Amino acid sequence: MPATSPVTPFQRVLVAACGSSDVVTLPQSILAMRFALGLQVRVVLSAAAASFVTARAFTAVTGEPAHDEHPGTEAGVAHLDLARWADLVLVMPATANTIGKAAHGIADSLLTTCILAAAAPVVFVPSMNAAMWDRPAVQRNVEQLRADGHGVVPPVGVLALSTGTVTGRGAPPIGDVLQWAADFVGQGRDG
Ligand SMILES: Cc1cc2nc3c(=O)[nH]c(=O)nc-3n(C[C@H](O)[C@H](O)[C@H](O)COP(=O)(O)O)c2cc1C
Repeated sequence: MPATSPVTPFQRVLVAACGSSDVVTLPQSILAMRFALGLQVRVVLSAAAASFVTARAFTAVTGEPAHDEHPGTEAGVAHLDLARWADLVLVMPATANTIGKAAHGIADSLLTTCILAAAAPVVFVPSMNAAMWDRPAVQRNVEQLRADGHGVVPPVGVLALSTGTVTGRGAPPIGDVLQWAADFVGQGRDG
């Protein structure tokens, strides 16, 4: 976290975790969100994300049941309950795949259904290699998300898993992500 932590206009954050390799760093960010900022965090994760980090790990770091693509036995409708609960949906890390689905209103998984059902602001935190990020198809989808009123955090240069060089496009530090989201939500409220 940066020296000055953001003052956030949200308290209950639904993190929608996608299958970027960067998802391995997400548990640490969630701990900072909980214990440095006092946010309540719940996680829904895609099948691809669960192949990197288990739902059990997210349950451990959030203190709340994490939702993967395996339906639980609890009563209620998970995507609606989660969508109602959150006052911010943070799609982090956001893959090219999920960005594309969300831009086209596709809801073929719990995670993408939560995005579509959310009443709260939705902020995407893209993470992928630079070649993917620069593709016209991805940029078109990002523009569509923005046109639909969603936030898309501008990615920064990060270490790419495949080369060990700074050719990835990924999340700024979590404090900066939350500050960006707070500014985005604040702008929406004011205007
Ligand atoms: C090792 C590995 C790393 C990957 N990293 C990324 C990534 O950083 N960004 C991305 O958009 N896709 C990445 N992918 C591809 C996604 O996992 C794939 O598109 C998947 O279908 C995404 O599903 P989801 O959007 O439902 O999570 C990676 C795949 C593998 C096997």
